[in-house]
This record gives sequence, C-alpha cells and structure tokens, in this order.
Amino acid sequence: MGKEAMSIGGIVGIISVLPGDLESPVGEFTGFRLVNGSTVCSGRVEIQVLGTWGTLCDSRWDISDAHVLCHHLNCGFAESVPGGGHFGRGTGPVWRDTFHCDGTESHLVQCPVTALGASSCSHDNVAGVFCSGKETRLTLCNTSLPEAVPEGIAEDVGVVCSGSRRVWLVNRAGRCAGRVEIYYEGTWGTVCDNSWDVTDATVVCRQLGCGVAMEAPGSAHYGEGSGQIWLDEVNCSGGEAALWDCPAEAWGQHDCRHKEDAGVVCSEFTALRLEKSDGCSGRLQVFYNGTWGSVCSNSMTRDTMSLVCKELGCGGEGSLETDLPYGRISGPTWLDHVECGKMNSSFWQCPSASWNQQSCYDQREETRITCSGPKLTLRH
Ligand SMILES: *[C@@H]1O[C@H](CO)[C@@H](O)[C@H](O)[C@H]1NC(C)=O
Ligand SMILES: *[C@@H]1O[C@H](CO)[C@@H](O)[C@H](O)[C@H]1NC(C)=O
Ligand SMILES: *[C@@H]1O[C@H](CO)[C@@H](O)[C@H](O)[C@H]1NC(C)=O
Ligand SMILES: *[C@@H]1O[C@H](CO)[C@@H](O)[C@H](O)[C@H]1NC(C)=O
Repeated sequence: MGKEAMSIGGIVGIISVLPGDLESPVGEFTGFRLVNGSTVCSGRVEIQVLGTWGTLCDSRWDISDAHVLCHHLNCGFAESVPGGGHFGRGTGPVWRDTFHCDGTESHLVQCPVTALGASSCSHDNVAGVFCSGKETRLTLCNTSLPEAVPEGIAEDVGVVCSGSRRVWLVNRAGRCAGRVEIYYEGTWGTVCDNSWDVTDATVVCRQLGCGVAMEAPGSAHYGEGSGQIWLDEVNCSGGEAALWDCPAEAWGQHDCRHKEDAGVVCSEFTALRLEKSDGCSGRLQVFYNGTWGSVCSNSMTRDTMSLVCKELGCGGEGSLETDLPYGRISGPTWLDHVECGKMNSSFWQCPSASWNQQSCYDQREETRITCSGPKLTLRH
C-alpha cells in the first residue's frame, strides 16, 4: 500500500463534505427521454432543463445512473451504457451535469449532481443506454436495505445490484472509498485482505462506476466490519464485471479476522480540505484522482469562499489571503475558475474549468482562505 492511502486515512475524520450530502436541483430538470433507439427502452439520453431539451455528456455516465433512468422510464434495468454517441449526435445543448446515483433511487432527480471539474463535451460524447424490458433482476435489486445496516450509512455508500448480490463501500469515507462489503444470501459481509491488490480493487471501483482503483488498503484501514467474512484470496485478472466473478476461496471460507478487512480508494473519490492544522485556514485543497492538489484563485468570489467555509464547518465567511510569495506551486493544481453561485448548496455543484493537473503555476494564484469560524464538527 502506498503512502497516499495512509494520508487519506489520516484525514477522513475531518472531511465534512461527502458526496452523499449533496443536494439535487430538484425542479430544474423537467423531462427525461430516450431517443433514436430501436425500442422505446434504448437510445440517447435526453434531458429537458427549463424547457430546453439537450443531450447528456457521457463522461461520468455509468450503469448505476442508467439503472435509475431505466427504472424511472418503466424500462426495467440498464444492461449496458454504450459510449461515443452510439445513438447519434442529437442537437441542442450537451448538459455537463454529472449524476452520482447509487442505483437505488427511483428518479434521477434524487441523485446528487456535481458540476465541478466537468470536462467540455461535444455531440460525439453523448450518453446512451440499453434498458432491459425483463423486470426480475430489478425487483431483486430494489429490495430495501437490510435492517442490519447501521443507520446513517445507507446514504453514503454506492450500491450496485446484480441478482441478489451487491457490493458497497462502508465507513463514511464518501461514495468511492471505504471498506468493501458484499451482500450474499441475505447477509452483508466483508472481504479478507489476503492477496488483495489494486487489480481486485479496480473490479470493485468499475462495478460502482467510481473509475479505477488508486489504492487497495487492507488491515481494516476503513474500520473493522462485523459478522460474515465472505471472500478470501481474491485473485481478479481485472476484466471481471463483478468482484464475485473473480477466482477466490468458496463463499465464507477463510482463515481471517475482521482486522484484515479489505478496502478501496477509487479514482473518483473526491474530498475537500483547508490545509492548516485548525482545518479552517490555509491552502484550499481538493482530493482527486488519488492526490491532493490546489485550487487556483482566478474568478474566486466571496460566495465560493463562503460555501467552502460552510461545507467544512468553519463558519459562514472566508477571506482570501493575499500577499503571497512568488514561486512555483508544489503538487498538482486541480481546479481553476471555480464560480459558485448563491443557489449552490455544495462546493461540488459549482461550475469550474475541467480537472487539470496544472491549472496554474505560481503560488500567487494559489487559493488560501481564512474562514471566520473555528472548526465545529468532527465527523467520523
Ligand atoms: C440514429 O442513430 C444512428 C446510429 O445508430 C445514427 O447513424 C443516426 O444519425 C441517428 N439519427 C438521429 C436523428 O440522431
Ligand atoms: C492468480 O491468478 C493468476 C492467473 O490469472 C495465477 O497465475 C496466479 O498463480 C494466481 N495466484 C494465486 C495466489 O492463486
Ligand atoms: C489519474 O492518475 C492516473 C494514474 O496515476 C493517470 O494515468 C491519469 O492520467 C490521471 N488522470 C487525470 C485526470 O489526471
Ligand atoms: C450552481 O451555481 C451556478 C452559478 O450560479 C449555476 O449555474 C448552477 O446552476 C448552480 N447549480 C446548482 C445545482 O445549484
């Protein structure tokens, strides 16, 4: 395991922004339809925003999002999400909103939406879906979470259904990092870290629509589970569609204890922090693609700083530190031109330039904020 995963573990306790906390702009999206497929249950995804129909960028469109749309359109579940404008280019705007559904919502408007860091998209990259008309698997998928799941966890995790098996990530580290838990034969259980590696973790990340694995932490890095340990000696080759398709010991057969529970950190795990030890001042940093990086201060406004401070539990206002020294920034500079509006209730909803390792170079352009309040809440 690399150093980066250790440092993530160290800060997880102070992240107060979790993708699961994002609000959706309910009411902004007024219609959803599939266009130009061979059946009514396949096609290009088109969304109406304030009266205007447009296509959806496919850059983060995944099977969980597609499940929710299929379900909502009475089309069963999603079988595949062909990329690259499979159903034609469409006309009108290409919406860049990114849905972060966990697959159990009944409507896309219930899924958190992010805009931050979205890449520009053309009509060659519009989302599509093939839904099934077969309802059986969806029904299984749709059963409510078992009572054994501790309260407060359900909204923070990604769940993907397939038959009666599911995989999800636990421990409030956000949607795309955490302890791997599998639902099998009516019971949730963990995975043992014997021969657990990034290739195995990547199968989980892909299954959850979280990109690829950056780290595969073992040793109960995200806390010890309880009850069943379902899988041991997992040895994926990387191409499997689900973790349970990988070679492993038989279900429930292991010589492990929960202190060996396996976890993942996927490339789409995101987090926010202010770097000084009080947690409420210093360099503004965003965790993206496995690395903490800076945010450039071009277009930085009072609204944006205020939202950052609120989101970190540091009071309602922030001021930009000026008089910064000249010099090259160390580490990536992930974002620039972050422009939060008064309507935004989360930093992740704010429009910005696309994710880019080097959005700016000079320390005078690096965002350093001092919030008005002390850190109030420590969540873990
Ligand atoms: C419909 O999809 C086909 C490809 O399946 C594409 O060639 C055609 O241009 C599309 N038509 C429209 C109107 O989008
Ligand atoms: C894992 O699988 C590979 C083939 O994909 C095999 O060569 C290797 O021996 C296996 N490792 C274990 C520990 O079973
Ligand atoms: C994310 O990291 C991987 C490997 O570290 C790299 O190949 C990829 O280009 C990075 N993506 C971005 C958007 O920086
Ligand atoms: C966030 O604010 C921007 C800029 O004001 C606006 O364009 C966007 O629609 C807002 N998004 C949400 C989800 O509120």
